[in-house]
Amino acid sequence: MATLRAGAALGLALIGLVLASLSGSCHGALQVGFYNGKCRVSDVEAIVAGVVAARFSKDPTVAPALLRMQFHDCFVTGCDASILLDGKSSEKTALPNLSVKGYDVIDSAKAAVETICPGVVSCADIIVMATRDAVSLSGGGRYRVETGRKDGLVSLASNVNLPPPSISVNDSIAAFAQKGLTVSDMVLLLGGHTIGIAHCSLFQDRLYNYQNTGKPDPTMDPSLASALRSTCPNKQTNVDNIVNLDQDPLSSSIVDNSFYKQILARRGILQIDQEIALDRQTKDIVGAIAGRLDFSTRFGEAMVKLGTLQNGAPGEIRQSCRAINTARRITMVQSVAKQLNMIVEILFGVMFMTKRKFTYGDGKNFANRRIMEN
Ligand code: HEM
Ligand SMILES: *[C@@H]1O[C@H](CO)[C@@H](O)[C@H](O)[C@H]1NC(C)=O
Ligand SMILES: *[C@@H]1O[C@H](CO)[C@@H](O)[C@H](O)[C@H]1NC(C)=O
Repeated sequence: MATLRAGAALGLALIGLVLASLSGSCHGALQVGFYNGKCRVSDVEAIVAGVVAARFSKDPTVAPALLRMQFHDCFVTGCDASILLDGKSSEKTALPNLSVKGYDVIDSAKAAVETICPGVVSCADIIVMATRDAVSLSGGGRYRVETGRKDGLVSLASNVNLPPPSISVNDSIAAFAQKGLTVSDMVLLLGGHTIGIAHCSLFQDRLYNYQNTGKPDPTMDPSLASALRSTCPNKQTNVDNIVNLDQDPLSSSIVDNSFYKQILARRGILQIDQEIALDRQTKDIVGAIAGRLDFSTRFGEAMVKLGTLQNGAPGEIRQSCRAINTARRITMVQSVAKQLNMIVEILFGVMFMTKRKFTYGDGKNFANRRIMEN
């Protein structure tokens, strides 16, 4: 019996080992320069930077697209490139995906690294590296990113819990706190709205009938409200126009602290953007960022922290950023089958050995066992 039990324990341990070896966790140890020396003599970060710079020179809106992509990826199930997976009901298809762009620049960067060292660089790391480059090209500082992430195996629209633009400051604080991000982190990260655009449909309520008052949002500068009303007419059409999130015309595509100056002047576009300049819990932080020159550094630190969100689920290095590796799906099934087979064999072996002992062993042992069993 003891042998049998030992055998079973061995079997279970083996199952555990197999499962562990099958699934490198997404929760890799992150470190600056993880890819140094891992891609022949090539500098992975430089390859990605080259692709992003080439795209940026043709289309600078790739910068806000990537910045938003990192937020959406990291905030939902950690930074695991789950946002990149295609599929009928993947995260991409969730409502707040609205206009998340930049998927093709990630594909290009992935293709570039894959040519030199296939199967080494994760898509999750590419999002984070490319975003850093985009921020830097847009005049923000160049922060050092940590790498070493794995790509996740799951992407479900139903996992998307991104905050809506009308979220209250309290609820937003709670949502960020749930991810281990402080009020300061939240205010700094909302500084991502220093570049890029919003569609009229996402703040239209503030221009005409704010919270059913029949009036515009009183916290918005009336001259801004009137200008926005002409860009965003209050009639049912198929057109959803866009306006800059940073209303400083000289700085709307530069990563700097002008966004905070704008919201202090009641010129925020999204409701949450305006609210952080007014709420007791956040307005001092907004004031401090608006009044200092270290936004780039602090924004970089907050982005690095956003980049540490992980979920601990199994991961891999995807071949294509848009799909889970097929080879992996096959080997997973094969490997489990093979291991189960092996475990069954071991158990049989153990039983056989035990049986041999019963038959050919000394009778005393056999008798003792029978007694113990009764
Ligand atoms: C409470 C948190 C947040 C809310 C409610 C929010 C909401 C939104 C909304 C509604 C838009 C407009 C989308 C559109 O009309 O296409 C937007 C755009 C954007 N968001 Fe956020 N956001 C939040 C946090 C963040 C964070 C943390 C970042 C990055 C660090 C970020 C970066 C961006 C960027 C760069 C854009 C412009 C995208 C583009 O021009 O393509 N947002 N956000
Ligand atoms: C985003 O979601 C909408 C549905 O909410 C879908 O029609 C659209 O194709 C999605 N965008 C992408 C890039 O998948
Ligand atoms: C937000 O939270 C603070 C402190 O947690 C509380 O004092 C305040 O009443 C809340 N505000 C709203 C509008 O719920």
